[in-house]
Amino acid sequence: MLKIVVCVSGGGTNLQAIMDAIADGKITNTEILAVISNNAGAKALERARDRGICDICISPKSYPDRESFNQAFTDKVKELAPDIVVLAGFLVRIPPQMVQAFSNRIINIHPSLIPSFCGVGYYGLKVHEKVLERGVKVTGATVHFVNEGMDEGPIIAQKPVMIEPDDTPEILQRRVMEQAEWILLPQAIDDIANNRLEIRDNHVFRR
Ligand code: GAR
Repeated sequence: MLKIVVCVSGGGTNLQAIMDAIADGKITNTEILAVISNNAGAKALERARDRGICDICISPKSYPDRESFNQAFTDKVKELAPDIVVLAGFLVRIPPQMVQAFSNRIINIHPSLIPSFCGVGYYGLKVHEKVLERGVKVTGATVHFVNEGMDEGPIIAQKPVMIEPDDTPEILQRRVMEQAEWILLPQAIDDIANNRLEIRDNHVFRR
């Protein structure tokens, strides 16, 4: 059984997709140990509670400096002892000590086709604003392992989504979620739970 901790910051629709996929048997051999948020008001925490999943809030605002937050956050995750950590719309930078402790065991969903529209300043709705500003015709989502860089770890899977003429950032965000994110992230978790992936030379291959 793959034990996962899911980290969230906002609406939690990706968390919902994971919980639904577990309930429907689309993700197998997987159990959510806890959902962690940096934001006590996150709707995602409500979604976890509704399913009877342990919800934890740990915010940088409650610590005197970043380093003490980083240590407390890492210690909390270590105490939970998951096999993998899933970042499902988690908008806090992962502490370096956590990346080290969970090397190739943290995955993230990003709402663009990496390496486009990613890195510092590219998160949530901002990604879709920049996509529309640039006028690209195709965008999408990426699920990848997390390393020390920002959106730079080995790519597990990507899915393209077409831009439509009347798109606003909000409309595009929703389409990217529906057509890509809510499919890719559950699939990646199921692949890991069923031992279908391996990493060689910083690239991900299916066994
Ligand atoms: C999602 O679009 C996710 O890809 C994005 O935040 C949104 C969270 O939505 N993540 C990032 O931008 C990470 N860089 P949700 O809370 O409804 O799942």
